[in-house]
Formats: sequence, structure tokens, C-alpha cells
Amino acid sequence: MTQENTTSQTGTPVVSDAHSLTTGPDGVVALHDRYLVEKLAQFARERIPERIVHAKGGGAFGEFVVTEDVSRFTKAAVFQPGAKTETLQRFSSVAGEQGSPDTWRDVRGFSVKFYTTEGNYDIVGNNTPVFFIRDGIKFPDFIHSQKRLPGSGLRDADMQWDFWSLSPETAHQVTYLMGDRGLPRSWREMPGYGSHTYQWINAAGERFWVKYHFKNQQHAPAIGNAEAEIIAGADADYYRRDLYEAIEAGNFPKWDVYVQVMPYEEAKTYRFNPFDLTKVWPHSDYPLIKVGTHTLNRNPENFFAQIEQAAFSPANTVPGIGLSPDKMLMARVFSYPDAQRYRVGTNYAEIPVNAPHAAPVHSYTQDGQGRHGFKPASAPDYAPNSFGGPVADPAAAGEGSWETDGPLVRTAAILHSEDSDFGQAGTLYRDVYDDAAKARFLETITGAISGVQNDGIRERAIQYWTNVDANLGAQLRANLEAPAAA
Ligand code: HEM
Repeated sequence: MTQENTTSQTGTPVVSDAHSLTTGPDGVVALHDRYLVEKLAQFARERIPERIVHAKGGGAFGEFVVTEDVSRFTKAAVFQPGAKTETLQRFSSVAGEQGSPDTWRDVRGFSVKFYTTEGNYDIVGNNTPVFFIRDGIKFPDFIHSQKRLPGSGLRDADMQWDFWSLSPETAHQVTYLMGDRGLPRSWREMPGYGSHTYQWINAAGERFWVKYHFKNQQHAPAIGNAEAEIIAGADADYYRRDLYEAIEAGNFPKWDVYVQVMPYEEAKTYRFNPFDLTKVWPHSDYPLIKVGTHTLNRNPENFFAQIEQAAFSPANTVPGIGLSPDKMLMARVFSYPDAQRYRVGTNYAEIPVNAPHAAPVHSYTQDGQGRHGFKPASAPDYAPNSFGGPVADPAAAGEGSWETDGPLVRTAAILHSEDSDFGQAGTLYRDVYDDAAKARFLETITGAISGVQNDGIRERAIQYWTNVDANLGAQLRANLEAPAAA
């Protein structure tokens, strides 16, 4: 192999990798040492802002294969029988920063980008089927309460429980968070959910409401609180390392992908608001329908270029898939590309990991910082034009829509008969957690609330769990009032 010479970024050979240009061996450093200046200037600009949430994560490339026929529900090419699609998946923790330990208790992000023949399709979900709030206007406040105090820079139990106990719609998700789902053994061993309700549209134009489920084929018990603390100190990158090493060893993580499908009209009369992100659809009402399998089989070659700069967004949909009247989803459709223009740059979608891999781009956008792709000089950059430039396809107009009318208001959605903030949280605690899981849950909430200093907030937190389950609330009160917890 011939030895290559170091060059500057503009390709000029570099004469030394080790010595600055100086006036004599001990002299001052010359400012016109362009190699030194380039090296230091580039270095100082290596970091981009971390994601405002989900900053700590890791990911890998993979393949999604459709094993069943769901074409009666959607015409999307990515879900047609036998389709194979390249994917990118990123896992993450929500509240911590870039260097945070992986095993701090948290909800975990579960983002999948499908490089489909109709453009990129992203499912940006979590390892839980629900979320803390149901209106995007509360998201910045919620995140502030989970991150750090502006004064001391410390995380704070009072702030967390103040927000949660004043926002009863959080109860279902906090029941997941404080249960085993909050400390998975690894990213490989946790399930994933699209969480929101999405719309599918078939070739005949019929509409369905769907929820995505990724059920992992590899299983392991969750990590306990004590073990998680030890791992957090010993190996902050526990999940990132596990994923990387498993894939390097050829031990490819795999998920079976399912959907729950609700006929379009049933949404109006279903017993829960089917677009409320704090609710699940019981499987007894809408059973899981298998779609295919998703396998991760290729590690990134460069973490920054392919994972840190990856831009996932619920706004990235493809024909045959639409949104739903979920206020959270609509806020997210704005927020992600907005965040990515700031975090990665105006032309973030041009970066190889974000650009479509299996579909062409025919866009009339141009220029902006970092733009490097361009059309031939003869191609028009405006529409309409009389020079044969791309034209929009009105045939798809209205696809993915729903009926809506009414005055502009700021209010909660009209309640369906069984909507309640605490009902499904109680069901999760009572009917899904076994006795051992209930015991772990009580231990975890006792520990978390014992860190609350403010008596009013502590009392409200106890009432919150009493609303979820009266026995649970009583046990919690007894634990907190026992001398050891004080
Ligand atoms: C209206 C509520 C929400 C807002 C405004 C919001 C906003 C954001 C923003 C700005 C980012 C950083 C994006 C980037 O810089 O690339 C992000 C990341 C993320 N969010 Fe949300 N979010 C919301 C709700 C949710 C919900 C409900 C889920 C899951 C069901 C979720 C899952 C994620 C995940 C997984 C990531 C990390 C994406 C990645 O791996 O790069 N978020 N969110």
C-alpha cells in the first residue's frame, strides 16, 4: 500500500503533523502557519448543538422486510408484500445530555428512518405506547421540569413531581417510566411504538387509523435500580456499547413489526379518544396485525456523520401514510425540521444519512448555508415554468386528510365516554404488572418522591398515585412516612 501524504482541507501537502512554524526552535508561533490555524479552527467547530431532547443515543443501519400482506390498508410501497427497505435506527434517552449515563431511568427513544422508493418515511417513537402530555404547547414546560434547574444546574425531584402532579394526564406514562420500561436491559431488548395514531390509505382511497408496534425478538429482564446505579458509574455508554458490539459480532437485533388498525369511522364513537397520545387501544378491541420484520445489521462507520447528524421527523411521510388529529403530532411536524435547521443546518436534508437513498429529489429549493447539490444551469428553479421542470401531482390532493370544522378555540378535546387521566394508568399497574413488578414499582416511586422537599408537592404526588390506585397510594404514604424514608 502506498503511503499517502497529509494535506490541508484544500488538498495542499502538509509538511509537518507535529511541529508548528516558529522563529527558531524556541521562537514565537507564526500566524501564517495555515496548517496550524486550520487544525485549531476546525477543532473548535467540531461540535454542533446537541439535540434539545434525546441528546444521548446511538444507532445502526438495517433492513425492513414485509412478510405479510397489508395492502388492503395502505398503498405505501414500503408496506407492500415482499418489499425490502434499507433503514436507519436511533435509540436514545430523553432527558440527559450527550454524556449522560445510559442507565439513568428514562423513557427511551425509538426512531426508524425507512429509505423508501417514495422518499424517506420516519417513525419517531419511544419504548412506550403513550406520552406524558396531549398538547404540544406543554412540551417545553414538561421538558424544563425534567432537565435542570436554571440556577443551580441540578436536576430536581420537586420540579419533576410538581409538573407531573399538576398534569394528571401524565399518569399513564409515568406508570410506564417508573416501571420496568424505564430501565431496559439494552436497546436491543426493548420494544418500540409509533405511539401516535397515524392514517393509512389504500389504493382505493379508503382510510384507516393505525398504531405501530415493534416487538423485539430478543428478551431480557429489566435492570434493577441498584444495578443501574452501578452501571451508570462503571460504563456510561452501556447501551451504546451493547448495540455496537452485538452488531459487530453478527448478533443482529430483530423486531417483528405490527399494526393495530381502526376503521376510519369507528374513531368517532370509540370509547376513548383514539387520537389522545396518553391512551393505548386495548388489543382486545384492535388486535395486532403482523406486517414484517426489522433487523439491524450494520454499524455506522462514522458516529458523527451518520448518527449525530441524523434528522428524524414525524413530518417525513410518504404516499399511503398520513397524520391524524393528534395535537401532539401536529406540533411535532413543525418542531423537528425546525430544530434540525438550527442543529444541523439549513441543508440538513442533503447530508447523505438524511437524503433519500431510493428516491430522487426534484425540489425547487435552492442555496443556503452548506448547499452543495445543484441542478444543471439550464434547469429552471421556479414553478410553474415552461422549460420542462418537475410538476406537482394534484392526483394526491386531499390524501391523508380528515374532516374538521368549528370555531378557533383553546380547549381540551371533546371527551369520549371512557376518557380519564387515571383509568389506563390504573389498569397498567393492576392488571399488567405482576406482584414482583408492583413491588419494584412501589420501591421506585418511593425513592423518587422521597427526594421531594416541598410538602405540598409531596402530598400531591401521593394523591396522584392514590388516583391511579387507592392501595398503591396507601402503601406509598406508609413508605414515605416510615422513619427511613423521611
Ligand atoms: C409536541 C411534543 C414534542 C416536541 C415539540 C418534540 C420535539 C423534539 C425535538 C425538537 C427533538 C430534537 C430533534 C433533532 O434535533 O433532531 C426531538 C427528538 C426526539 N423526540 Fe420529540 N418532541 C415531542 C414529543 C415526542 C413524542 C410524543 C415522542 C415519542 C412518541 C418523541 C420522540 C422523540 C425521539 C425518539 C427523538 C430523538 C430522534 C432521534 O433519534 O434523532 N417526541 N423531539
